[in-house]
Amino acid sequence: MKIFLDTANLESIRKFNDMGLLDGITTNPSLMFKEGGNPKVTMEEITKIIKGDVSLEVVSTEYSGMMEEGKRLRQYGDNVVVKVPMTPDGLKACKSFSSEGIPVNVTLIFSANQALLAAKAGAKYISPFIGRLDDIGQDGMKLIQEIKEIFSNYDFGTQILVASVRHPVHVVDAAKIGADVVTLPPAVLDKMMLHPLTKIGLDNFLADWDKLKSGNPDIKI
Ligand code: E4P
Repeated sequence: MKIFLDTANLESIRKFNDMGLLDGITTNPSLMFKEGGNPKVTMEEITKIIKGDVSLEVVSTEYSGMMEEGKRLRQYGDNVVVKVPMTPDGLKACKSFSSEGIPVNVTLIFSANQALLAAKAGAKYISPFIGRLDDIGQDGMKLIQEIKEIFSNYDFGTQILVASVRHPVHVVDAAKIGADVVTLPPAVLDKMMLHPLTKIGLDNFLADWDKLKSGNPDIKI
């Protein structure tokens, strides 16, 4: 399963990229707003840091505006994936971009039918928002299972990009289902690294090493 970071925060992107954990990045207008500054500079920088796919989202709601914005976004780098909303105009733009060889991420997917249509329109990725479904009392992970089952019956070549991930259990569940990608807020990726027994174990090892050294001060590893 590929791991993308769901952020426009350059510090986090550099931090996790240096650990070799990142296969790509997803952003959206809200994440851009959260970081402040000039979004153009941010987008350009992200595409330079990350070798893998970087989803940058259009803000036009009609077809021709989406096409213009998508083409401008692609100027930031060959790794830019144009992110369009799951609307009729978004699907039309998805079809046009993918026919031109430009990869598309169809976002704001909340049903299996939407996923099916986006795949038919040629999306490279579809982004089902599981956390937002959980928020309204539905089962977001059930949607991932359903989409996985449908996609396994056909040969769309569209990847399931699990979005709106809220906690590490979501990640394990998505991996068990066989989702292609999860996009994670930095806080979730931080939590995935931690286990209390790792910390206790390391503290004990270091305390014992200090004891050993107290009798042999010149010892070094
Ligand atoms: C995905 O591409 C979106 O940017 C993101 O996962 C949305 O997550 P949220 O529901 O936490 O805003």
